[in-house]
Formats: sequence, structure tokens, C-alpha cells
Amino acid sequence: MSKQENKGTIQSLRGMKDIVNEESTLFTYFVDNASAIAKKYGFSYMETPILEETALFKRSVGESSDIVNKEMYNFTDKGEHEVCLRPEGTAGVVRHFVEKKLDRAGGTQRWYYYGPMFRYERPQKGRLREFHQFGCEVFGIDSVYEDANIIMMIKDILDFFKIGFKLQLNSLGDLNCMPQYKENLVQHLTGFKDELCEDCQKRITTNPIRVLDCKNESCQAKLVNAPKITHNLCESCNTDFEKLKEILEFNGVEFEVDTNLVRGLDYYSKTAFEFVSNEIGAQSAIAGGGRYDRLVEFLGGRPTPGIGFAIGIERLLELVKMQESKEDIVYIGALDEASLNTVLKTANSKRKTTKTIIEYTPRGFGKHFKLAEKSGANIVALIGEKELLEQTIYVKNIETREEKTIKIEEF
Ligand code: HAM
Repeated sequence: MSKQENKGTIQSLRGMKDIVNEESTLFTYFVDNASAIAKKYGFSYMETPILEETALFKRSVGESSDIVNKEMYNFTDKGEHEVCLRPEGTAGVVRHFVEKKLDRAGGTQRWYYYGPMFRYERPQKGRLREFHQFGCEVFGIDSVYEDANIIMMIKDILDFFKIGFKLQLNSLGDLNCMPQYKENLVQHLTGFKDELCEDCQKRITTNPIRVLDCKNESCQAKLVNAPKITHNLCESCNTDFEKLKEILEFNGVEFEVDTNLVRGLDYYSKTAFEFVSNEIGAQSAIAGGGRYDRLVEFLGGRPTPGIGFAIGIERLLELVKMQESKEDIVYIGALDEASLNTVLKTANSKRKTTKTIIEYTPRGFGKHFKLAEKSGANIVALIGEKELLEQTIYVKNIETREEKTIKIEEF
């Protein structure tokens, strides 16, 4: 028996947590409504296994990416297969697409999915080792209108939950222009190689564009005069990028171009985007995605364009929670037995518009205030003998301390 097994209680692993109570209610609320929106956009639900061959992610997300290089939960199973817990959802969906030979069938496929993903990262606010994504993937459409469609769908989801965001947009070019851009960038960076962080010194040979989104300040300083990818696009990529910006503007979707946005996964070409929020701390990306026109080929299929995105559910729920906490929660109780009936009736009618918690045991003011605070309510409403007689209700706002007695029907 290991030392760990010997201890009395067992806790969930670092960076992993149970989803219960208010959080699980919010979780299903999010998934239900995001799914309903996805269905309206023509997506159907799919599930892929959580455990996959490690090679799947090496060939898609990329061996030089941090996700594959440093963060995979991989192991050899009892049949000597190299397997891992999926760090993201796209690769599994593409594997299915190729496995079922849908690359030969032609036409369009649209799938949405949600579920747990695993990355062995250093846990912090907004960064877990087991987290959940809601994602969508589209196959078979190379029109840039689809890029706009996908971005507008994410906006619809965020708007539904009344979440403010900033959309950052970039184009990563394609096989025609990206190799030349990488060469230009390497040429620029080689002059400063020794001044870059250790990771970026390696990236110059393994994946130079990842230097662009390094968080290290001294690396960022060396990028001020670096060539910009958007100035090095070939004609077709440039036309698509200009068109995408035009469509978004036409549809009133605000965005900013961030030429350093390269994303942490290697399969993207052309459009790449992130939705960020400045309300949830350093881990600010709530959704990310882009076009991956070569990924089907990387996984052994025939060339098929693809595009998709994933929303980080935990990060999004943080924002939904913040919003919820701004909404009123009413605690309602009786000061004597005789008022209970009226309290119940008033609570039921208040619930039509406001979250209302009811206390069935009649108590004095002081005890009710204590219970109300414990329950998370910001408004206490009480009915006793005097109020019952006058058909009024005593109401106190715990935050502003404002108190008043008003007619029950006004309440
Ligand atoms: P990603 O940017 O790696 O993209 O992840 C998408 C979202 O998942 C992030 O924006 C973030 O909200 C959330 N997320 C990522 N890592 C963590 C973490 N450790 N803890 C909490 N939340 C996290 C992808 O995974 C791509 N598969 C998206 C995609 C789909 N591209 C095309 N299709």
C-alpha cells in the first residue's frame, strides 16, 4: 500500500473538482442553452472517447506544443498502447471524421460536443487540470463566410448569457505564405537569440511563431519590430482575411486584429480567434478557435477544410455567476405562525421574477437576518401579526440597510 493510500481521507486531485449544487445547476443551464443555439445553427451532438491514442494529439495539436510536450496525461495501458486523456476535443472529432471515411463522402458535417478535457498545467484561478469545453466543428466548407458564421454563433452564445467580451482576430496564413513568414521571423529573432527565454530559444527551431505569444516581457520586447504575419499573407489568405473583417463589420461584430495571436495548438491555418474577458483575471480566454484546413490530412484523410471553436465552460460560468450575484435574492419569512400562509403565497408570486428563499419556521427579526445572510440573500422580507392585519410586508435591503414597510401587492 502506498503512503497516499494509507491516509484517512481521500481528496480530489489537484486542479480537479466536483461540480455540484449551484455550479452544476449553472453547468446544465449553460450546456442546455448553448446546445439549443448550436442546433439552430445546424449542429448535431457527438461524443468521442475521453481516452485516445497519444499519437492522435502528437499529429494534430503538435509535438512542439506545450499541450503535447508538457501537459498530457499519458500512460501505457495494460495492452502496451500509448494512450492519454484528451487535452482538447477537436482531434477526436477529426479522427472520427477520417475513420468513418467522411472525407470521401463530400458534403458538410457539423458537430457540437461538450465534456471534460485534461491538461497537466499549474493550477490557478481559471486554470484547471480537468476542465470542460463546449465545442463545435465544421467540415467541408472553405468559404470565409463560415468563419464569420462561427464567430457570430459564439457571439450569440455569449450574448445569450449576457457576457461581455473582446474578440481578437488574426490570420495565420497557409502553406503558401506561412513557411516564408516563419523564415522571416527566424531571421529577425536569430539576432536576439541569447536574450530570449529558454523556451523561446527552443521554439526558434521547433515552432518559431509560438515566440509571438510568449508571455515573457523580454521576449515581447524583441517582437516590437518583428515582421507581422498579416503583412506577409499570400493573395488568397489576404483576400479572405480582408473579407472576414468586412463581413464582421457588416454584421456589427466588433473585433481587434492581434498579429501575435497564434494559439497554443499547431493545427490552425488562416483564421484564428479568441474571445477574452477582462473580468476573470489572467486566464482571460473564454473561447478560442479557428480554421484547420490541413488537419484532416495530418490524420491520414483527404484534404478537407475545417473550422471550429471551444468555449471553456468553467471560465464562462465564472462570468455567469458574477452576473447572477448582481441579481436580487429575496429571503422571506414569518414572524409568527399565523403569517405563514401569507408568507408562502407571497413567496410563490415573488418567485415568478426573483430568486426567493423561504423559511418555514417563524422567528424573531434578529434570527431571520442571520439566516438570510447565511443564505446569500440581499433582501429580507418578513410578515408578522401587524403586517398581516394591514396586508403589508417589512422589507430590508441587507447591502444598503434601507428598510421599508410596503403593501404586499407592491412587493
Ligand atoms: P483552447 O484555446 O486550447 O482551444 O481551449 C479552448 C478554451 O478552453 C480556452 O479558451 C479556455 O477557455 C478553456 N481552457 C483551456 N485550458 C484550460 C484550463 N487548463 N482550465 C480551464 N479552462 C481551460 C482548443 O482546445 C481547441 N480545440 C478549440 C478549437 C476547436 N479549435 C478549433 N476547433
